[in-house]
Amino acid sequence: MTQPQAIALEQHIEKARRVLGQRNLVFVGLMGAGKSVIGRLVAQILEIPFVDSDHEIERVSRMTVPELFEAYGEREFRALEARVIKRLLRTGPRVLSTGGGAFMNDTTRAMVLADGLSVWLKADLDVLWERVSKRDTRPLLRTANPKQTLSDLLDQRYPVYEKADVTVQSRDDVKETIATETVIALAQLDSGQETVPKP
Ligand code: S3P
Repeated sequence: MTQPQAIALEQHIEKARRVLGQRNLVFVGLMGAGKSVIGRLVAQILEIPFVDSDHEIERVSRMTVPELFEAYGEREFRALEARVIKRLLRTGPRVLSTGGGAFMNDTTRAMVLADGLSVWLKADLDVLWERVSKRDTRPLLRTANPKQTLSDLLDQRYPVYEKADVTVQSRDDVKETIATETVIALAQLDSGQETVPKP
């Protein structure tokens, strides 16, 4: 990076921090979009903490996500997810990466839109499939035709993910590039004024 590029990035970072204020930067999007990887990197760039809602759910329940689905079903998982995210949204600033279904839940989405700043990491089916097909940790994809299931989820969910404050295209590129694009997209929301801190 040249010196002028580094200075420009510093300015973007400063603006992005100002836009965020005391809020959580909430990553939403389908499984495999890179919410945790990119989220972690953005947290590093902004020098704020990172938290992953699925990890937090697993920590408090002492069960894995597949175990929770198996034992209690998706409805109960969503209720627990909503409670965990509600609590996480109270402390900021930080980056919060959420499970792919979180933003689809009306209660969770309303909380995220009211209290957080949301980023949709949007990716094409093939990019997502390439990533998720490597691991068998997603209960929703344990179907006869998981790629078709993923494609159906994409059709159902993209119109809803679109409600996020910012959209960033995720793709097969170095993660630093996508993280930097996220910071720039946030900086572009800056009006030069402090955001009102949460009550
Ligand atoms: C889900 C996505 C998963 C996890 C659960 C349900 C979904 O998280 O929360 O398996 O409904 O899309 P990732 O998006 O981090 O894989």
